Amino acid sequence: MKFRSLLSTCCSSRSLNAMENSRHDRQDNEGFRVYSYNELKSATNGFSAANKVGEGGFGSVYKGRLHDGRKIAVKVLSVEVESMRGEREFIAELTSLSNIRHENLVVLKGFHVDGCQRYLVYDYMENNSLAHALQGVGENRMRLSWQSRKDILIGVARGLAYLHEEVNPHIVHRDIKASNILLDHNFMPKLADFGLAKLFGENLSHVSTRVAGTIGYLAPEYAVSGHLTRKSDVYSFGVLLLEIVSGRATVDFDMERGEHHLVQKVWDHYNTNELVKLIDPTLDTNIREEEAVQFMKIGLLCVQENTTKRPRMSVAVSMLMRETDVKDHKISQPGHIIDFMDIKMDKGTSSTSIFSKVSTPNSM
Ligand SMILES: Nc1ncnc2c1ncn2[C@@H]1O[C@H](COP(=O)(O)OP(=O)(O)O)[C@@H](O)[C@H]1O
Ligand SMILES: [Mg+2]
Repeated sequence: MKFRSLLSTCCSSRSLNAMENSRHDRQDNEGFRVYSYNELKSATNGFSAANKVGEGGFGSVYKGRLHDGRKIAVKVLSVEVESMRGEREFIAELTSLSNIRHENLVVLKGFHVDGCQRYLVYDYMENNSLAHALQGVGENRMRLSWQSRKDILIGVARGLAYLHEEVNPHIVHRDIKASNILLDHNFMPKLADFGLAKLFGENLSHVSTRVAGTIGYLAPEYAVSGHLTRKSDVYSFGVLLLEIVSGRATVDFDMERGEHHLVQKVWDHYNTNELVKLIDPTLDTNIREEEAVQFMKIGLLCVQENTTKRPRMSVAVSMLMRETDVKDHKISQPGHIIDFMDIKMDKGTSSTSIFSKVSTPNSM
């Protein structure tokens, strides 16, 4: 099959090069290939509503089964010609996930391009996302025992340490949150949704003109100044950790107190030595409280206002595994965005489209 013949008017030359490079790089990798539209259509039962397993900022995700019986997930992105929305995310996923493999990253199996539609094909994850698992009341959330929450956090931290410290150029994910962590049949976590990922060469920081991410998980210095480093992901990881241990939303709203942030709540409880009160009440009573409190302290370290006080992800892994003692690190004031109006906006865009991908914490 001619690779170029798959591409039509909507496809920029940049995306063409990226796809060709990615294809070359991946030629030896078992399984990565270009899929035909008919193959994806038949696998997903014509992209039927019944096969839809998720909906995110840019498109829908469908469950499918290939002729050989293997299960896949297909993400369908529509490119907006004027803004190139959808195309940027497609390229970011291809360039980030090509060539890298880690047990805590979702496997990208291939793609298809058809006019303004882009299709990304992944291994199917039986237990959907962490957001899905946490959202469910009762039965669903109860299935996430303390042991599985710990394993999920350690897996996510390992996946991030790999992206930040082992892959070259390093990758900053930029959208770590519960809906972007997939869970396989064993509840092993896989980082997914690399649509906002940025590759960093020698220069380890980057100033964005357009901030993107999800409110509640966004590192304040990045949100306000556009200054992006690996420590922005460390911040989002810290928020995710606090969310998993407490079972609470990252940003909450009630009529009495208005908007309140999980990070602030954890900091207040830390200061009064009451972290134990924030442990998710749906957790089994014989949960090791002392361990959950230690985890929350690691979460607080990851969300420190001063980026230099946040640990590198490999250090966070060793703290979570209790190889490094969290007591050796002083916990100070965490950072959080007090006023969302401070977030750096892309000039010339309306407030609704500022963040190509700033969404509410629970949206996928
Ligand atoms: N490989 C997969 N297996 C199972 N479900 C998936 C898979 N990929 C995505 N999903 C579901 O679709 C949702 C959106 O996928 P994501 O990659 O985050 O897309 P978006 O860029 O639109 O947010 C996920 O939160 C999850 O519920
Ligand atoms: Mg997503």
